[in-house]
Amino acid sequence: MALSPLFHSNLPSLQFVLLVSIFIFSGSLYASDDPHLSLDYYASICPTVFDIIRKEMECEVLSDPRNAALVVRLHFHDCFVQGCDGSVLLDDTITLQGEKKASPNINSLKGFRIIDKIKNKVESECPGIVSCADILTIAARDAVILVGGPYWDVPVGRKDSKTASFELASANIPTADEGLVSIISKFLYQGLSVTDTAALSGAHTIGMARCANFRARISGDFETTSDKGPMSETYLSNLKSICPAAGGGDNNVSAMDNITPNLFDNSYYQILLRGEGLLNSDQELYSSILGIQTKQLVVKYAHDPISFFQQFSDSMVKLGNITNPDSFTNGEVRKNCRFVNT
Ligand code: HEM
Ligand SMILES: *[C@@H]1O[C@H](CO)[C@@H](O)[C@H](O)[C@H]1NC(C)=O
Ligand SMILES: *[C@@H]1O[C@H](CO)[C@@H](O)[C@H](O)[C@H]1NC(C)=O
Repeated sequence: MALSPLFHSNLPSLQFVLLVSIFIFSGSLYASDDPHLSLDYYASICPTVFDIIRKEMECEVLSDPRNAALVVRLHFHDCFVQGCDGSVLLDDTITLQGEKKASPNINSLKGFRIIDKIKNKVESECPGIVSCADILTIAARDAVILVGGPYWDVPVGRKDSKTASFELASANIPTADEGLVSIISKFLYQGLSVTDTAALSGAHTIGMARCANFRARISGDFETTSDKGPMSETYLSNLKSICPAAGGGDNNVSAMDNITPNLFDNSYYQILLRGEGLLNSDQELYSSILGIQTKQLVVKYAHDPISFFQQFSDSMVKLGNITNPDSFTNGEVRKNCRFVNT
């Protein structure tokens, strides 16, 4: 992430070539606006579903605001693997290898119990009608609102998969120490844009990361990107006490937005402007020499919360629209989100 001004003049074209070639050669497996989804899918068959989910999420977020973050991330990790089809919710069984033990998820992804609880309530009201994938998508929207974020309408009508993919969970989900170009290519692969990448990363305005995911950053180039003022030095030494360079404390956590960790706002981008992003992947949006476009977007969202909210809403709908044709033809409405129907 070193910032060499020497490279600057060549970069727009380099970035263009890299991204265009990624786009051409990877393509997208999934249609990103599927005609099967609609706003009124449940209007006559389960009219109360949105109210049930909202009420449950209110309780969950009231009891712990972190629950909002857990559900939003769960939805993201669902949609990046076979589309938004509830595959992430499946437990391992003798005949099915789930995604929960894949490297981006193991010891990290949480919130399954919340979805189980909502599913139970929904099943008692409308048995066999509402997919787990839809519940997760709606719950993620409600989570964002409940911690102060924007509202958007959620298209519904997803089906739950009968399969999961450990391999795709390991391959498709970006990681904290991955470079910007590689991260962007994973979003393009899903039919999302560079703008979607920058806006959706703003979800890190809530929630926590484990020391294992930011140790390299705080013992490496945090000081290079930050202003080294007393505030950032205090923050850094605090992080180092939570997450010692020598090792240990791998599961110690810190908020990615240390200013307002439980509020969905644009302070995540202001932190990136100061060079104090917690994850390497966060800071790269602003500081990478390859991030011409993402840097402009970070500046924009840092100064204009309304444009961030609008773009985040649009990008969340696009994320939720990633659909797997196979789940539509062979999918089902699971009775229990953890298991394929028998
Ligand atoms: C841009 C690429 C992304 C990378 C590299 C990334 C990486 C990570 C990592 C490493 C963590 C901490 C996990 C842990 O330490 O256990 C995390 C947490 C989180 N991520 Fe991302 N993420 C990305 C994009 C997204 C997107 C698109 C969303 C949702 C729209 C999202 C939502 C979250 C949330 C809410 C948390 C906090 C979860 C909690 O509190 O447990 N992330 N992410
Ligand atoms: C998402 O899907 C819905 C329903 O298929 C469609 O109306 C909408 O235009 C899509 N939105 C985006 C941003 O792709
Ligand atoms: C985890 O963080 C706490 C402070 O929150 C610290 O006292 C403890 O030493 C850390 N654990 C390790 C193994 O460093």
